[in-house]
Amino acid sequence: MLPQELIRRKRDGGELAADDIREFIQGIADDRIGDSQIGAFTMAVYLNGMSDAEVVALTTATRDSGHVMRWDDLDLPSPVVDKHSTGGVGDLVSLVLGPWVAACGAFVPMISGRGLGHTGGTLDKFESIPGYDPYPAPERFRRVVKDTGVAIIGQTADLAPADKRIYGVRDVTATVESIPLITASILGKKLASGLDALVMDVKVGSGAFMPTAEKSRELARSIANVASRAGTPTTALLTDMSQPLAPCAGNAVEIVESLALLRGERPQSRIMQVTRELAVEMLLAGTLAATREQALEKLDRALASGAAAEVFARMVSELGGPRDFLERFEHYLPQAPVTLAVYPQQAGKVQRIDTRAVGMTVVELGGGRLRNDATIDHSVGLSEIAAIGEQTDNQRPLAMVHARDEAAAQRAAEQLRAAVSIGDPTSQAEAVASETL
Ligand code: URA
Repeated sequence: MLPQELIRRKRDGGELAADDIREFIQGIADDRIGDSQIGAFTMAVYLNGMSDAEVVALTTATRDSGHVMRWDDLDLPSPVVDKHSTGGVGDLVSLVLGPWVAACGAFVPMISGRGLGHTGGTLDKFESIPGYDPYPAPERFRRVVKDTGVAIIGQTADLAPADKRIYGVRDVTATVESIPLITASILGKKLASGLDALVMDVKVGSGAFMPTAEKSRELARSIANVASRAGTPTTALLTDMSQPLAPCAGNAVEIVESLALLRGERPQSRIMQVTRELAVEMLLAGTLAATREQALEKLDRALASGAAAEVFARMVSELGGPRDFLERFEHYLPQAPVTLAVYPQQAGKVQRIDTRAVGMTVVELGGGRLRNDATIDHSVGLSEIAAIGEQTDNQRPLAMVHARDEAAAQRAAEQLRAAVSIGDPTSQAEAVASETL
């Protein structure tokens, strides 16, 4: 079908055939279809939506627009599984989860992204480690996954190239906020890494990508349904992003926290609870555990024995980082020259956190990008962030700021005070419980 006819049909509320969608998406990958036609198509989808069958076709066509990885030739003894998250602040789940489930026998080829808007990026965090190569040659990537069980790397240009063009056009045509387009975009990339199963972490709350809990739930359902119909069994969890997930946000500071979690130092923290829930789902999806109890047992053992931390260390060294990173991380990670404790204007319990604003504070410190091509400062960020319900006063700060200079630290302090609402110490704090769909 001619591109203009396909656009006309969608514009008029019709349903598109899978073959026509596939041809159109291939035309985008081959540069035969122009940006104006991509823009008209995405607006037609934005306004009229898509049936489940159309989203499955759009997803598989996006996945197949470039190289699709295969693992079957490696004869791996257990399934290839991964997790994807819609992103958040202080969300260092991937750094712990990948090595942890690999230590339980899973194989995890995790293709991660950079920070986007107010959210942090796993790749940026790993680049705090000197020598870590986020873009290894494909054979090296496969070898690290096979030998170590996990490799966390960046997206290469040949992975779902149609999405790169479509996303660029959506960004400037007000068509990002469409569940069918988001579903196909996320899954088109994720499924290109040849997974046997996927677990999706969709965030809810003031730092989430989706504007409301209802929209987050709708996205989670759409992703689980479409991925499973596209041949990759997928479960989705809704998890709380009404406050930073870990008590820190930034790059090097999140690596330090990840190592503490991998050493089993904070088993009851919110970040570990979410990571554990996702890990259980991954072990079940990868048939590495038959029941939730079995999965938890395996996970506890991998943490207590030091195996999870060991896998992290091996992955770092196999991808070019220091061999003794686990023992000497403080020597290798950059440290910001200025540290400032930010105290509240008045003593009281934390009631609410504008998590998006906290994320933007990190971006403005230099820990994220205001422009696509900007370089980031891995040393800056926030630590010891007070959680909802926690008492703060002139002894317990809202957070510690790690900054390049005094002026940047003072600006961040003002932004933090504005982002955190302090209330009556007897009132109830609000937080969102996790939910498996
Ligand atoms: N992340 C993606 O990869 N695609 C979207 O459309 C939205 C978020």
